[in-house]
Amino acid sequence: MVPRSPSIRAVNVALAATFVFAVSIGLPAVHGLSADTVIDSPLLTQKIGTNRTIKVDINGNGDFKSVQAAVDSVPRGNSMWVIIHVRKGVYREKVHIPKDKPYIFMRGNGKGRSIISWSQSSADNVESATFKVEAPNFVAFGISFKNDAPTGVAYTSQNQSVAAFVAADKVAFYHCAFYSTHNTLFDYKGRHYYDNCYIQGSIDFIFGRGRSVFHSCYIFIIDDKRLSIHGSITAQNRESADENSGFVFVKGKVYGIGDVYLGRAKGAYSRVVFAKTYLSKTIVPHGWTNWSYDGSTKNLYHAEYRCHGPGAESTDRAPWSHQLTDEEATPFMSIDYIDGQEWLPAWL
Ligand SMILES: *[C@@H]1O[C@H](CO)[C@@H](O)[C@H](O)[C@H]1NC(C)=O
Ligand SMILES: *[C@@H]1O[C@H](CO)[C@@H](O)[C@H](O)[C@H]1NC(C)=O
Ligand SMILES: *[C@@H]1O[C@H](CO)[C@@H](O)[C@H](O)[C@H]1NC(C)=O
Repeated sequence: MVPRSPSIRAVNVALAATFVFAVSIGLPAVHGLSADTVIDSPLLTQKIGTNRTIKVDINGNGDFKSVQAAVDSVPRGNSMWVIIHVRKGVYREKVHIPKDKPYIFMRGNGKGRSIISWSQSSADNVESATFKVEAPNFVAFGISFKNDAPTGVAYTSQNQSVAAFVAADKVAFYHCAFYSTHNTLFDYKGRHYYDNCYIQGSIDFIFGRGRSVFHSCYIFIIDDKRLSIHGSITAQNRESADENSGFVFVKGKVYGIGDVYLGRAKGAYSRVVFAKTYLSKTIVPHGWTNWSYDGSTKNLYHAEYRCHGPGAESTDRAPWSHQLTDEEATPFMSIDYIDGQEWLPAWL
């Protein structure tokens, strides 16, 4: 056998190293969970590839002055992507995307500039929501959704103040923000992707039974240290082994004010994974709680994978919680968890 030249061997070693690296991080860049992929407005607009743009301008220089009026102008049964461009401004209104208006790309001028805001607290969380999306194939970019009702850690009332109610399949948010206190983001059902979003709250502020990936999101906690009840970031509601819902947080940051749990069990099969996430001291050492769930904890899937920061210390963690191995973490570490390659516009 002819010995290979050193240069070829070097190339082979380099290729092998690349391959091993790709395998060890568990995903090729196309899956979008690698730090070098930033999905911005030009990329999304190009991928969605439509000319139909409805302009919303609060000062009257667009097609509509309110976001809801623009949504109302989209025909029922819409089957082609349409861009609703929300120009800079604070839109004081509730916005609802009904079931029969899919393929809306709601594009703002940045989360600090295009803001949809309302103020309502209610015993019924859906009723309180500032923004509701019930149509599949919805994408938002660079918009803030806010509910500034004066609720918070259970002192004035038990009312909830939802900023966004996400109740459809195939919904994605890029560079968006969700502001409230009690029950901010109702991730009710369907497959969802949140990329580089900011989510703020105190109690159960990411809740529901969606099958969702939160990639590089900032989770800001505004709980109050003086209270004896700790809030919780998530309240995931998976109820049976057949249900494929669950929240996965990858590579974000969790920080803020006060002490909270990463999650509380809202269903017997509640599933939440925090992976490669920075956890600040705001996370209580116990990490997870079964508060208000009085069945067995054996089917809860409360897990962490290679998190870091002072809140990631696992010594005192809830006994049912898991610190995942590389192999156990793999299914949660790519957009395949939500079949993203089939429907996320950025990958089509
Ligand atoms: C956009 O508009 C141009 C010119 O009106 C047209 O030729 C093209 O097909 C349109 N593209 C899409 C994706 O609708
Ligand atoms: C709480 O919600 C109920 C309706 O569910 C409403 O009547 C009441 O005004 C709300 N309380 C506050 C403080 O907003
Ligand atoms: C709930 O958690 C508490 C604190 O860790 C524990 O003492 C209790 O046994 C748990 N309940 C169940 C049903 O496991």
